[in-house]
Amino acid sequence: MRDSVVLITGTRKGIGRYLAEHYVRQGAQVVGCSRSEPEWSLENYTHFCVDVTDEAAVRRMAAAVNKQFGRIDVLINNAGIASMNHVLLTPAATAERIFATNFQGVFLLCREAAKVMQRRRYGRIVNISTVAVPLHLEGEAIYAASKSAVVTFTQILAREVASYGITANVVAPTPIETDLIRSVPKEKIDAIVERLAIKRLGRFEDVANVIDFFVRPESNYVTGQVITLGGVG
Ligand SMILES: NC(=O)c1ccc[n+]([C@@H]2O[C@H](COP(=O)([O-])OP(=O)(O)OC[C@H]3O[C@@H](n4cnc5c(N)ncnc54)[C@H](OP(=O)(O)O)[C@@H]3O)[C@@H](O)[C@H]2O)c1
Repeated sequence: MRDSVVLITGTRKGIGRYLAEHYVRQGAQVVGCSRSEPEWSLENYTHFCVDVTDEAAVRRMAAAVNKQFGRIDVLINNAGIASMNHVLLTPAATAERIFATNFQGVFLLCREAAKVMQRRRYGRIVNISTVAVPLHLEGEAIYAASKSAVVTFTQILAREVASYGITANVVAPTPIETDLIRSVPKEKIDAIVERLAIKRLGRFEDVANVIDFFVRPESNYVTGQVITLGGVG
């Protein structure tokens, strides 16, 4: 990863922050974004206050990264939001917000980063889904549907950009203790863990390990794949 340019969305906290630190530790130039400023800073890390749903802002960020570093080697679409609710009680505005961030944001970032990657005929894209998709988790219909869209989108994108030397893959984590699941009742989390082959919560390292594999230059024959953690599938 030394001197690679890695663009990660949603780096202010949670999994995204861990990934930013992880790739800086490996010698990469990391660029991150979130809607608000992080309360931390790192050497070889540049932050943009960008909402991934804002097309103009995403374009400006990709252009700025290209101007400053001359390339984007890796894109990790980590920014995401969730809201647990029964379908019958879900406001349309909630569904729109979730799809805008979890799907539209991924699409915009992939499109803009792939245009930059295409010029050097090299790129690694990793998108993030969830075990809520294969487990069909009740209460997570909108969230899981937005992540299903990410999976299908990634599989087709993988075919469309393969000839440019760009791969696109998905990692689907199990529950990990972050703000995203803070409001989910403990019984619900315990019930999900009970359905995993490996019965524990996920860790940041579990996600980073799969991403490490996808982004290796040697993984140039691996694309359109979904690796689901915890033994689900
Ligand atoms: N934690 C889990 O159990 C779990 C399990 C499976 C999959 N995932 C997935 O993993 C990813 C990261 O989740 P997490 O648990 O780390 O969540 P988190 O702790 O809530 O962090 C979410 C990050 O995304 C940023 N973000 C949210 N909306 C954004 C937007 N519109 N534009 C730019 N940045 C935005 C947030 O910063 P700002 O608020 O400043 O924008 C924050 O940095 C998500 O895609 C999530 O669906 C998580």
